[in-house]
Amino acid sequence: MARYAHITGWGMAVPERVLTNQELSQMVDTSDEWIRSRTGISERHIAAPSESTATLAVEAAIKALTVANLAPDQVELIIVASATPEHIFPATACLVQDQIGALKAGAFDLSAACSGFIYALNMAAQAIRSGSLNNILVIGAETLSKFTDWEDRNTCVLFGDGSGAFVLQGSDKPGGILSAVLRSDGSGSDLLIVPAGGSHLPASPETVANRQHFIKMKGREVFRFATRVMAQATREAVEAAQLTMDDIKYIIPHQANQRIIDNAADQLDIPIERCIINLERYGNTSTASIPIAICEALEDGRIQPGDNLVMVAFGGGLTWASLVAQWSGPFPTKRKVYPAWYRTWARVASLVRRFRRYVEGLIWGTNGDS
Ligand code: ACO
Repeated sequence: MARYAHITGWGMAVPERVLTNQELSQMVDTSDEWIRSRTGISERHIAAPSESTATLAVEAAIKALTVANLAPDQVELIIVASATPEHIFPATACLVQDQIGALKAGAFDLSAACSGFIYALNMAAQAIRSGSLNNILVIGAETLSKFTDWEDRNTCVLFGDGSGAFVLQGSDKPGGILSAVLRSDGSGSDLLIVPAGGSHLPASPETVANRQHFIKMKGREVFRFATRVMAQATREAVEAAQLTMDDIKYIIPHQANQRIIDNAADQLDIPIERCIINLERYGNTSTASIPIAICEALEDGRIQPGDNLVMVAFGGGLTWASLVAQWSGPFPTKRKVYPAWYRTWARVASLVRRFRRYVEGLIWGTNGDS
């Protein structure tokens, strides 16, 4: 029997601190008027020193599991899409797994810049459709502020921090994720890049002095690329789902620039009201931008079960991706579960495992080895 991958839970988290255009204009040579007119952004959320990609991911994950009424120990796989992961390794997804108490889950990170959330949703949907997994947590989480050069006005006005998470579950009932289009063009890899800190240019005093651990972007080229692919990828995904644009209630575009979204709406010949847009308050949160926009549209009742949606994104790589989903909502369940309670147990279980490793280290005399 055919299996379908439904989105049954959702959640978002953003840091409390809001950075306005006005404040930015005191940090670099820019103005509220310039940022609003060129990007549509008014303010963005910025992580506190104690916050990181994993802490934001955990908050969104717990909310998504609560909506789905799914216990963390029922989760079989966690995928974190992020352009700003906690470390090169271990995967941020492993830290989320530990902190939410997903004791039976595999976990990995997916790197496809801002398109990563759609890539991850499609990977999760494929695993469910194949029959191998049933409950998957997909998270887009970012602390772009930690990779932003706050002296570079070309980039620092664009980005914000946040996270969004979906629970995907399998069912025989048709619906859920209907189609996806994933693409890349590595010939544009230099257009949007963090040049240092990887194997190509390992961290050194010179790379730090040259500010090469920050995001570098050729904005005009990225803009042109984005306006070329957004409408086309939307059309391809709609066609692959055997639908027409008239069947689509909303497009949820990656929230990078209002002008890019306006341009895509024009090319698709649809009114801008059919695009869900919230970049004015969040800036570009990369992989988190689409789930955050969807969470807000669910909150105010714009999205309802049965609605056909298109998610479409572009980003560094270059990558781009689109996906059609019929909105599902939570599956009926018999017993209420409280995923947030598992966090306390998860912390205890994690400490017990660390302590066991410490004792083993004492026995084998390896404590202090690196
Ligand atoms: N304030 C004031 N002036 C500025 C600022 C600023 N913050 N930033 C740039 N300028 C100046 C430039 O220096 C330039 O001056 P010049 O003409 O004297 O050289 C002038 O404004 C115009 O610059 P442009 O780059 O032509 O401005 P444009 O209208 O293209 O807007 C922007 C720039 C907003 C970056 C736009 O190109 C864009 O949005 N590009 C796409 C970026 C994007 O979406 N990136 C995210 C990808 S997703 C991911 O993977 C993270």
